[in-house]
Amino acid sequence: MCGIVGYVGKQKAASIILEGLKRLEYRGYDSAGLCILQGGQLDVAKKAGRVEVLVKEAARHRFNGTTGIGHTRWATHGGVTDANAHPHISSDGKFALIHNGVIENYAQMKTFLAGKGYTFKSETDTEVLCNLIAYHYAKEPSDSNGTSRFLESVRKALEHVEGTYGIAVLCVDFPGEMVAAREASPLLLGVGDGEYIVASDASALINRTQNVVYLKDGELVYVTAAGFTITTLGQADVSPVVDRITWSIADAERGSHAHFMEKEIFEQPVALENTMRGRFSEDGSTANFGGLNLSAPELRQIDRFMFCACGSAWHACLVAEHLIERYARLPVEVDYASEFRYRNSPLDRNTLFFVMSQSGETIDTLAALREAKRKGYRVLAINNVVGSSIAREADGGVYQHVGPEIGVASTKAFTSQLLLGAMLALYIARLRDMSFNDGVQYVNALKGAPDLVRQALGQAAHIQAIAKRYARYADFLFLGRLSLFPIALEGALKLKEISYIHAEGYPAAEMKHGPIALISEKCPSVFFVPKGEIFNKIVSSMQEIKARKGKIIAIVTEGCELPAGLADEVIPIPDCHEAVLPIVATVPVQLLSYYIAVVLKCDVDKPRNLAKSVTVE
Ligand code: F6R
Repeated sequence: MCGIVGYVGKQKAASIILEGLKRLEYRGYDSAGLCILQGGQLDVAKKAGRVEVLVKEAARHRFNGTTGIGHTRWATHGGVTDANAHPHISSDGKFALIHNGVIENYAQMKTFLAGKGYTFKSETDTEVLCNLIAYHYAKEPSDSNGTSRFLESVRKALEHVEGTYGIAVLCVDFPGEMVAAREASPLLLGVGDGEYIVASDASALINRTQNVVYLKDGELVYVTAAGFTITTLGQADVSPVVDRITWSIADAERGSHAHFMEKEIFEQPVALENTMRGRFSEDGSTANFGGLNLSAPELRQIDRFMFCACGSAWHACLVAEHLIERYARLPVEVDYASEFRYRNSPLDRNTLFFVMSQSGETIDTLAALREAKRKGYRVLAINNVVGSSIAREADGGVYQHVGPEIGVASTKAFTSQLLLGAMLALYIARLRDMSFNDGVQYVNALKGAPDLVRQALGQAAHIQAIAKRYARYADFLFLGRLSLFPIALEGALKLKEISYIHAEGYPAAEMKHGPIALISEKCPSVFFVPKGEIFNKIVSSMQEIKARKGKIIAIVTEGCELPAGLADEVIPIPDCHEAVLPIVATVPVQLLSYYIAVVLKCDVDKPRNLAKSVTVE
């Protein structure tokens, strides 16, 4: 949430920052702004609205400077106004600040600073921090102990901050220099050819460099023309580790697709191949998960799993629960990370704790990880973004390897999480009771998932036509059972978040205990109808809806015969192994939501009120 970019180098900073902000816009799009340090002044352009509005505003300025900062905002403190847009300038005109996070004790600081004569133009916590830096700067003697007065003022101000931040700061007295710092909000430094770029994530700088330093909590980076140094809030020196980003600029671009969401839905077969690559044993009977950092004997000691996540990742955990319990015969608990962190959930020594997060920066999931670690548990992570906070703080884990996911609604990261959950179930099951032959069959089924997803994507035109007929309905139910109940939840979430249509996901048979009251010809139901033991039960639930004039869109595995006239629309999906079914069944609901949102002319990649990577509580 909120994207920040800062540039120090030899090129004109404004265009590089604006380019970075366009790539970071999925993190927040309430307002955008930039500040260039030039001619001994901090020149600011900022506007409520999208980055494209800022681009027009910036064109009215003569931005020539080679040092600058920019921000795209997801509003927390204060409404969506020009004044609340970042960067903020201290009331003495000396500092410019951009911030991602929340300063919890800003009200006390504001009162204190107002008493010292500092004034405020916005309602934000960020402007308070900016003035606090100015206050410490005014108190500091000139550069003391060989350290920069600029750096020390930022450090002193941060010592008083309670909350979370990724910040970048400019000081009018230090042209060509920048200080950036982080605490629980992502920040990395791109090390380019004679230039440095700080950013909330790598997509903002991938067009200029693939060499990055991931900053850790409590670290500050001081960037000058001569290079950069990293220290901690406690003034310890840090030796930087420069990592190389493995994906490229093309992965972060939309290409010929109308939306990132469309691109990412259609990338799923390749994404799944990348998630699986090199992760099956040579004998083809199990998965390889070296990154868990647990030996087979240690894993055999595990007698319970706990998963924590948010949103779509939480749905993926529910599917993992189903498969681990079914195949590995071990109890699994799944909790919302935001609930777990405030509950006192009993865990025992033999519980293996997992967090699942595409971004690896979701603050609730990160906090759940920290709480579990504080209690002494080994915490493993399923995560997509290499070098993310969750990846670094977990004791081990598995990367998803699906490349950057830019569309705010998760698609390819979700199906990859489903796949890793299925692989984990296999891995644990093979350490316990699953036979070699069953393992081989399971592995072959997983290897076939990309092709089955390709087949499911082949229904796109059919689903698009259905979307046109159903886009004007105001309420939907999504109904599924067993491993497809979480996919019903996911279908409802997708529809809600990108088309703003009210939708609920429910276990199909549970529907008659309440939600059936919603059913009329005005509320269609999307049913998942897989082959197998529950087929007849699901057909009965469909009959109950039909008897109440509810329209039915049925996602049906090939080979199943529905009673004539029961479904108004049928979307076939290929028949497949139970471990693969949730992945394949997800595709039609992604496409249905996507096409409905397109019909309704919604901003698919930037749905209202949402942002990718929720780094605030
Ligand atoms: C829904 C969606 C969100 C995320 C959730 C967790 O389409 O994208 O519900 O799944 O915010 O995000 P991560 O996986 O980054 O922790």
